[in-house]
Amino acid sequence: MSAPKKLFIKTYGCQMNVYDSERMAEALGGQGYEQTATPDDADMILLNTCHIREKAAEKVYSELGRYKGLKAAKPDLKIGVAGCVAQAEGEEIMRRQPMVDLVVGPQSYHRLPALEAKAGRGAKALDTDFPEEDKFEHLAQRPRARRAPSAFLTVQEGCDKFCAFCVVPYTRGAEVSRPAERVLAEARDLVERGVREITLLGQNVNAYHGHEGGLAGLIHALAGIDGLARIRFTTSHPNDMDDALIAAHRDCEKLMPYLHLPVQSGSDRILKRMNRQHTRDDYFRIIDRLRAARPDLHLSGDFIVGFPEESDQDFEDTMDLIERVGYGSAFSFKYSTRPGTPAAERAQLPEEVKDARLQRLQALLTRQQQALQDAMVGRTVKVLFEKPGRLEGQMVGKSEYLHAVHVQADGLTPGDLREVRIVESGPNSLKGVLPA
Ligand code: SAH
Ligand code: SF4
Ligand code: F3S
Repeated sequence: MSAPKKLFIKTYGCQMNVYDSERMAEALGGQGYEQTATPDDADMILLNTCHIREKAAEKVYSELGRYKGLKAAKPDLKIGVAGCVAQAEGEEIMRRQPMVDLVVGPQSYHRLPALEAKAGRGAKALDTDFPEEDKFEHLAQRPRARRAPSAFLTVQEGCDKFCAFCVVPYTRGAEVSRPAERVLAEARDLVERGVREITLLGQNVNAYHGHEGGLAGLIHALAGIDGLARIRFTTSHPNDMDDALIAAHRDCEKLMPYLHLPVQSGSDRILKRMNRQHTRDDYFRIIDRLRAARPDLHLSGDFIVGFPEESDQDFEDTMDLIERVGYGSAFSFKYSTRPGTPAAERAQLPEEVKDARLQRLQALLTRQQQALQDAMVGRTVKVLFEKPGRLEGQMVGKSEYLHAVHVQADGLTPGDLREVRIVESGPNSLKGVLPA
């Protein structure tokens, strides 16, 4: 047998790309590739890219520039671009960077082995279709290797919402749900291989409709899998937060009390211009109902500052919304103009205004996040241990609320789920001890 070829994958963007990269590595495993941690000895380099903001897209081209020397030294090296930049820019990528051999969009990964075979030594391969077939069904079976305790599982892809700022509906296509029986089979397989926590993924995961009762139905079905201890899901849209899913936060013990529910802005005027299809009061009402169902729920959100026409008052409305909700964690961004989206045509705010607003917003979010984390001191939480820490004898895991928790103790192994008393709160993590 010939020596395995080496594959280097670099992943940008959201968790769905992380999941896709795993699956692509498995698919290329069938072509004789195994993964390497550095591009230097690779026979194939694959960038799994993100198009969400301008900076994310530009990173791809600067990364490609760094491979020039490698390609010159090894003409057989294959360079591929996958993900959302591949979908958005297609052939243009090969024009800008002629050393790219292969471009594959996020819905065509099952065709990757064939594309790989075709590309290289001057031959180009391009596929940015939105085929009818389920790409996951056609991907190679996952090798049955032991897995880390926490895994992603994509159940839904695409978006029909068309927020005025966002490229995702164009790069990932329309909303599609994977059939529940396939999701359940994949989940059982993951659990057999050591997984104890599954995070269900989708661009609009709560729009999932592959099971009776939607995402809530799927969660209840997954909860029936012995050995699976925890279920999470991300990312949700407020308008798809239905009664059954809210009730699942009360009724399903395995569903963790943490929810990422982006709102983007706290101003009704801007929400309307963003085409979010909900008001700030709608959002408050959903949060109230979620907290009635699960009082200890930690919330996370995404915010955009400096959207076209955002006034000082609009921004203050966002600050006020954050004060009222109280977030355990959050992601915030300056609005970035994306070609082809409706908001790109509108008058843009000056960069200094965006910068100043982002700073104030992030200061508030950081304060909230720290206060909620500090409030864990003295409490007992359940930690799913994932890996050894940097210190000798230390293990790191996640609490129900997704806080990183460090514990110094003998005999802990990845996959253990233990009660931990929190004794200290640092800048980004908690320290705990096993109860005596
Ligand atoms: N489907 C999810 C999130 C998808 S993108 C949702 O609807 O919430 C992740 C985040 O990137 C978004 O929530 C938004 O906050 C941010 N984002 C998307 N487009 C952006 C843009 N043009 N400029 C700045 N941030 C953007
Ligand atoms: Fe983008 Fe809006 Fe769809 Fe989220 S809901 S992926 S922000 S268009
Ligand atoms: Fe980026 Fe595509 Fe995810 S644009 S955020 S990688 S869906």
